[in-house]
Amino acid sequence: AEKPVRILVTGAAGQIGYAIVPMIAKGIMLGPDQPVILHLLDIEPAAESLNGVKMELIDAAFPLLKGVVATTDVVEACEDVNIAVMIGGFPRKEGMERKDVMSKNVSIYKAQASALEEHAAAGCKVLVVANPANTNALILKEFAPSIPEKNITCLTRLDHNRALGQISERLNAHVSNVKNVIIWGNHSSTQYPDINHATVTTSSGEKPVRELVSDDHWLNTEFITTVQQRGAAIIRARKLSSALSAASAACDHIRDWVLGTPKGTWVSMGVYSDGSYGIQPGLFYSFPVRCEKGQWSIVQGLKIDEFSRAKMDATAKELIEEKSLAYSCLN
Ligand code: NAI
Repeated sequence: AEKPVRILVTGAAGQIGYAIVPMIAKGIMLGPDQPVILHLLDIEPAAESLNGVKMELIDAAFPLLKGVVATTDVVEACEDVNIAVMIGGFPRKEGMERKDVMSKNVSIYKAQASALEEHAAAGCKVLVVANPANTNALILKEFAPSIPEKNITCLTRLDHNRALGQISERLNAHVSNVKNVIIWGNHSSTQYPDINHATVTTSSGEKPVRELVSDDHWLNTEFITTVQQRGAAIIRARKLSSALSAASAACDHIRDWVLGTPKGTWVSMGVYSDGSYGIQPGLFYSFPVRCEKGQWSIVQGLKIDEFSRAKMDATAKELIEEKSLAYSCLN
């Protein structure tokens, strides 16, 4: 039998935490043959509820689940973890300034970066889910200098999957036949969902989405805003933010990163920019990536038209502003 993989979930008593832990324990993240040990971290006010989650995990008798560590001690939580899914954070509350929320999250991610750096297993892969996801990932990278930047990512797969879902609904095609959409930039409403390279597998072969959805106006307007604002639409409908889709997307992200993307397919991941596509290095920016042997690489050479360029630059600009806001919170 394979050695168990230790997976840290922070914010494990929260909504996404509650949705993701059974997925991980059932093998949805790392496959049906990989045993796992869950490390669950939350903060003191949620300690009792966190313990309840642990009780339910025991009660579910998952065959792949070889242990559960539930703690409010960040060092204990990070000990020897191979994968870290960072969902814990400080939510924006009504009337709070952007800077105040940023400041809370900067201090959380600074502290957790140090704990991961000192206590995680070598080669630990980190996925930041908590918002502002791209900037939290940047802070984590800055304060965990010995973790290679290739091992730190943030979640835009939910946005990617939402884009696949919208195209699938529009064309009445199975979502598994739609591929290669791209989310560029920030996990925020400035993100750019790009379908210019996306295709659909039909009975007569692979066809570009632009050809099948002949309505360019819809693709250039409503499609984009629907994906950008889907998070808000879920909150209006559920009175709670998206959780099952976020948990599922986080599993997709890690699974593809560890086990590889299918041939001919790319996915979107927030990664540390190396300057590809003219995006300023030093930002966590969502790019199209392929994964192989546990490593992601940015898909190169895609043609970018003027419309796309402007949208890619606008979301980069927002990330530059977030970065400077985050740095101002450090001082
Ligand atoms: P939630 O409020 O239900 O859960 C967050 C949990 O984090 C709470 O249990 C809280 O006690 C805990 N927490 C707070 N500070 C912590 C710390 N320092 N260490 C460990 N745990 C801590 O929120 P929910 O709905 O589960 O969302 C979690 C985060 O994910 C939010 O920041 C949300 O904005 C973000 N999100 C990101 C998405 C993405 O696509 N990147 C999609 C959906 C949500």
